[in-house]
Amino acid sequence: MQTRKLGNSELNLTVIGFGTWAIGGGDWAYGWGAQDDKQSVAAIQKAVELGINWIDTAAIYGLGHAEKIVGEAVRACSTKPLIATKCGLTWNSKKKIKPRLKKESVTAEVEDSLKRLDLDTIDLYQIHWPNPEPEIEEAWETIARLIEQGKIRYAGVSNFNVEQLKRAQKIHPVTSLQPPYSMIKRKIEKEVLPYCSEQNIGIVAYSPMQKGILTDKFTREFVDHLPSDDHRVYDNEFKEPRLSLNIHLVEQLKNIAKNYEASVAQLALAWVLVHPEITSAIVGTRKPEQIEDTVKAEELKISPEDLKQIDAFLNKKA
Ligand SMILES: NC(=O)c1ccc[n+]([C@@H]2O[C@H](COP(=O)([O-])OP(=O)(O)OC[C@H]3O[C@@H](n4cnc5c(N)ncnc54)[C@H](OP(=O)(O)O)[C@@H]3O)[C@@H](O)[C@H]2O)c1
Repeated sequence: MQTRKLGNSELNLTVIGFGTWAIGGGDWAYGWGAQDDKQSVAAIQKAVELGINWIDTAAIYGLGHAEKIVGEAVRACSTKPLIATKCGLTWNSKKKIKPRLKKESVTAEVEDSLKRLDLDTIDLYQIHWPNPEPEIEEAWETIARLIEQGKIRYAGVSNFNVEQLKRAQKIHPVTSLQPPYSMIKRKIEKEVLPYCSEQNIGIVAYSPMQKGILTDKFTREFVDHLPSDDHRVYDNEFKEPRLSLNIHLVEQLKNIAKNYEASVAQLALAWVLVHPEITSAIVGTRKPEQIEDTVKAEELKISPEDLKQIDAFLNKKA
């Protein structure tokens, strides 16, 4: 698979990375409904077999569960993928989530992640959210020390704006930013993409299919049948008035995807990867068949005419 170099690091990431939020399951505040762990392990192993060389996870996904599943799946892989995880969202015995970026908290979190993932070193460690905002510097300084101690190879951030990136850059170079980016969420195009490109900060884009919206299966029936413990039920993109606009967009995209004998998911990913500033798109996957489909996006080159047409759909929708 094609790789792109991640910012200032020596990591060459495949343009598609494996996302593990959904495999955290349904039993917590931001779950995705029930998930079969055997399917999750099979999906990760299928991704590695297909040549995907990195996995994105986070301590908070399933309150530690996704990291454990990643550890279990990777243990059995002969080729070991790079592992990226995140800190900054903690939970208590009642599953109440609290953002924390204090030194003691980050230091404890890295140890817990290493144990769950069954690793000695984490390839990429990211601050999940810039929250609590005044604690950004404390967390980033702590992470810089953890690199010196060999617990982490490279450090990145997620959901940071340019001003927050600048604050971190003053302390230690930021290897990567993980922002949302899809046909539906284009906010980073204006300031974040140019800043990261100028500063050699790699971008690993999350939710490139907008949590499953930009796929062939996205219909009103699909949304009506989401279980109550799937957080997408509360997501505004899955509710009116945006729901109808999103369904209409998917119908338009199906016509373009047909030209390439591709799925809408592949088209959505190929669209994200058109931007050279994007190092890799993180695709959330819960079944082996899904990654077999989405991995083909790597080969899809959207023509300039179709890119213009997609832009026209998106501008009209906006
Ligand atoms: N840093 C952050 O704050 C942050 C936030 C969000 C995500 N992320 C990371 O980015 C990853 C990806 O984002 P995401 O999971 O939110 O969204 P996504 O990748 O846009 O969508 C993932 C969902 O789309 C559906 N899907 C995947 N492949 C498909 C296919 N080939 N055909 C049809 N449906 C398919 C699956 O859901 P169903 O089968 O359930 O429909 C899957 O869980 C996450 O897993 C996580 O690692 C990070």
